Amino acid sequence: MGGVQKQLYKKLNSSMGAHAARALRIVAVDCDHGHLQAVEALGLPGIKTMFGRLPDEFPSKEAVGGSASAILISEVLHFLHGKEIESSIQSAYDLLVPGGRLVLSTVSFNFKPFGNEAARSKMRSTYQANLVKGLKWPGSDGFDLNALCKDEIERTTTPEIKEAIARFPQYIHIIGPRELRQACVDAGFEIEVACLGDHPGYPAGFTARQKGEFESTHVVAVKRGSTNN
Ligand SMILES: C[S@@+](CC[C@H](N)C(=O)[O-])C[C@H]1O[C@@H](n2cnc3c(N)ncnc32)[C@H](O)[C@@H]1O
Repeated sequence: MGGVQKQLYKKLNSSMGAHAARALRIVAVDCDHGHLQAVEALGLPGIKTMFGRLPDEFPSKEAVGGSASAILISEVLHFLHGKEIESSIQSAYDLLVPGGRLVLSTVSFNFKPFGNEAARSKMRSTYQANLVKGLKWPGSDGFDLNALCKDEIERTTTPEIKEAIARFPQYIHIIGPRELRQACVDAGFEIEVACLGDHPGYPAGFTARQKGEFESTHVVAVKRGSTNN
C-alpha cells in the first residue's frame, strides 16, 4: 500500500510543477489506524491522514479544510454494498470543485485471488446470473475470500500476503465498469474513462495478472461546471 501512495504522490508532484507542488495538500482517509500509520511512516510532506469509514464517515469539507480538486478511491468500494457505493460517490461529488475528478479502482469480475480459478468461476457465475436478472449491482451478493481461498491462505508464507489476509473482510463485492460508470452518472458526473485495468499495488502472488484479463475496474469521472459556480 505504501508503494502506491508514494507513486501517486510523485506523479501528482511532477505533473503540477514546483510551485504547485509546494501547495499540494493530500488527505489520506482509511478506517484502519494501522494503514494510516503506514502512510504517516512514509514521511511524505503535505500529507494529512484522517480516520473515516465509507459511506457514513466520508470526509466533509470542514474536515479536509475546503473542497477537493481530485479524489482517489482505490480498492475500497468493493467492501461496500451497492447503496453504500452510491452514497460514497454522491459524497465525493459534493466534496469536489466543479471540474474536479473522481478516480475509482475496484476489483472486477476478472478478479482471480491467488490465481484460484475455482474462486473466480464461482464469483463470475453469480455475477453473470444476477446480470441476466437485471440487478443494478450484480456482484452485490458478496463473497468471503477467506472461505473461497482457504487452501491458498493456509499455504502462503509470504509475509506481505499474510499481513493482507489478516485484514481481509468477509465481504467482497465484484464490480464491473458498467454499474460503476452508471452510479457516477446517477450522481451527476460525466465519464472520462470506464474500463478494466490492473491495480499495481497488490503483492505479487495475490492476483493472477493474466494478460488481457485485467482484474480491476477503473472509472475516471468529472464534475462539470465552471469554478465560478
Ligand atoms: C485493498 S486496500 C487498498 C489500499 C490502497 N488504497 C491501494 O489502492 O493500494 C483496502 C483499504 O480499504 C480500507 N477500507 C476498507 N473498508 C473501508 C471503508 N468502509 N471505509 C474506508 N476505508 C476502508 C482498508 O482499511 C484498506 O486500507
